[in-house]
Amino acid sequence: MNDLTQPFKRLPVALIGTGSYVPERRLTNSDLEKMVDTTNEWIVERTGIEERRIAAPDEKTSDMATNAARKAMEAAGARPGEIDLIIVATITPDPFTPSTACYVQANIGAVNAAAFDISAACSGFLYALKTAVQYIGCGQARTALIIASEKLSHIVNWEDRSTCVLFGDGAGAAVLRTGTGIEGDSAILASDIGADGTLTDILLVPGGGSAIPTTEENIHEKLYTVAMRGNELFRHAVQHMKDSALSLIKRTGIDPNDIALVVPHQANLRIINAVTARLGIPPEKVFVNLQKYGNTSGAACIIALDEALRAGRAKKGDIVLMVTFGAGLTWSSAAIRI
Ligand code: COA
Repeated sequence: MNDLTQPFKRLPVALIGTGSYVPERRLTNSDLEKMVDTTNEWIVERTGIEERRIAAPDEKTSDMATNAARKAMEAAGARPGEIDLIIVATITPDPFTPSTACYVQANIGAVNAAAFDISAACSGFLYALKTAVQYIGCGQARTALIIASEKLSHIVNWEDRSTCVLFGDGAGAAVLRTGTGIEGDSAILASDIGADGTLTDILLVPGGGSAIPTTEENIHEKLYTVAMRGNELFRHAVQHMKDSALSLIKRTGIDPNDIALVVPHQANLRIINAVTARLGIPPEKVFVNLQKYGNTSGAACIIALDEALRAGRAKKGDIVLMVTFGAGLTWSSAAIRI
């Protein structure tokens, strides 16, 4: 889905602060060797992941979201009362309803904000970004807080070696704004979101919803955990991430050489390498932190962006390209001038 530039004159939208949070507990590959039939070598070679973070039993998705949000607001210099929109991207909400965004709103005291969740799995953060850009661009909001937060450890089958080695918990957040407070040329230059609903069965949590409601039997069968055909997903991921990024580059007229940093979804190092090689982006311009956190779904790309910015990997005026894919299938990309 591309940006429609007509007939509206859109307001410029800038990313003015980011924040992230990961739980303290580390689960290393050698810990996993004691839980399932796997090895550190296999996990590192096939994925690049060395360890992941696991939330405490009483640590909710909204708690992690709130921690990340507070850091993003601090970086942006945004006060709670200024925020008029909160979007949380998550597939592991606190309860199914009300939204996790409403819990965050209460936690941070953003009394003037509308709040809702969106579900686009690992593409969730950039889906939230595009949604917020539309609200702000059309004058319906001025300051938006967008967050992706996941407690995936809760929906992982810890007996399934083909999935449990991949995922981790964490949250990332960003503040978007128009009008005063925007420094220099900072801007969300363009974004792209897409989906292919014919491929819902490649990656899903089958049970617990209206299709397969929770019963004692399907809890026993672990139907509330992630089921995935990793091999097929891998191929679709490379294809869609490459296509989404290329269409964005073409539409914006950005010279790929002018991209200072690519911050991709952090699912698998081999996917990242395959996509960026096809885009002609050299490895030194690609930010990777999946070795520390595994795949934190929608949170992965914004945790990575936050770490990259705090590490000085992109400076004011640089163009950063983000690109993701996830269950749905969904995919998304965004070009951001920092
Ligand atoms: N440890 C050791 N062996 C494992 C293993 C593990 N943790 N997980 C799977 N294997 C085995 C398989 O059983 C299979 O054995 P077999 O050949 O005897 O049947 C073998 O390794 C190869 O499995 P395969 O699934 O073909 O491996 P792969 O090279 O495709 O790598 C993934 C598996 C999951 C790492 C890879 O497909 C992937 O990353 N896919 C995308 C997943 C993803 O990104 N998901 C999130 C989307 S947002």
